[in-house]
Amino acid sequence: KSPWKGIIREYYEFFPVNEKTPIVTLLEGNTPLIKVNNLTKQLNMELELYLKFDGANPTGSFKDRGMTLAISKALEEGSRAVICASTGNTSASASAYAARAGIKAIVIIPEGKIATGKLVQAMVHGATVIQIKGNFDQALNIVRAIVKEYPITLVNSINPYRIEGQKSAAFEVCDQLGQAPQYHALPVGNAGNISAYWKGYKEYKEKGKINNLPKMLGFQAAGAAPIVLGKPVEQPETIATAIRIGNPASWATAVQARDESGGTIDMVTDEEILKAYKMIASFEGIFCEPASAASVAGVIKLYKQGYFEKGSTVVCTLTGNGLKDPDTVFKVSDIPHVLPANLDNVRAFVEKLL
Ligand code: F0G
Repeated sequence: KSPWKGIIREYYEFFPVNEKTPIVTLLEGNTPLIKVNNLTKQLNMELELYLKFDGANPTGSFKDRGMTLAISKALEEGSRAVICASTGNTSASASAYAARAGIKAIVIIPEGKIATGKLVQAMVHGATVIQIKGNFDQALNIVRAIVKEYPITLVNSINPYRIEGQKSAAFEVCDQLGQAPQYHALPVGNAGNISAYWKGYKEYKEKGKINNLPKMLGFQAAGAAPIVLGKPVEQPETIATAIRIGNPASWATAVQARDESGGTIDMVTDEEILKAYKMIASFEGIFCEPASAASVAGVIKLYKQGYFEKGSTVVCTLTGNGLKDPDTVFKVSDIPHVLPANLDNVRAFVEKLL
């Protein structure tokens, strides 16, 4: 079996690329689909639950799937600079792929509201980092205006190549399961990813690779749930800073994914998100970031409401790596023990644990 070549080369016929496209890749994709063992048992959930761990991508989030294509096409079109607004992961990914392509990246982020790991990624890759005293929605409006005036390529998910690349995750899930799951759950922020997955599943079916489609389940944070409430949220707030978004750009296509698939878009509280986040890490050994846990929190919520038939196959995407946001760990974990540096003390302590 030949080694993995990155999503563009692996799923070439599904993308708007040709031999002239300079492929900028960090060999993203091919992330693990991990069957859940303990969490479902703990919660008495009769589900075949899988986690698609997209935190295993090169920059630690699913954004790399879209960025490989967006940056490759930007280069093909002769662009010398890219710009994005971000809650952190898009800026990390854009910065890395722009560095790889040898072009400039400018990223606009809400000051103090992105996780430390994401901020340092943009910095180390050499992007120009602009923090605004405002939120993601305001940053995105600024970016939209700037690209109208200057020859800079916008690489937020309103760039269609982003969605195109991200649909590769749906292909992988089908390849890994041998079919589409019955349900696919995702956190929803700017609503690009749920739109991308649905497009991917539909295209895979059209090509005859699968003959079923999942119901799409999207979960917003309760303090940032415009789609659930049916109106924009002026001051979105949630511990899951990645999805702290009040007016998603891909609102319409997310609703379409929900309705065409017969799924739902619901919300989960920060408390539910943190509980799921801790359970995924401590029962399954998988460290995702808080926003990612919204997918699992949502499935737990719906299960309790009797939403699923027993034994259903459910895939949750864990969109980002937990290492990006070390600060949240301190809110949910025991602090390390401090002991004197001598054997007697440590031995006595360890003995009590057994
Ligand atoms: N999970 C993580 C870890 C994210 O970073 C994002 C979005 C989402 C879920 C939601 O995906 O926006 O396609 O609905 N992060 C963007 C960013 C907004 O700037 O990094 P979505």
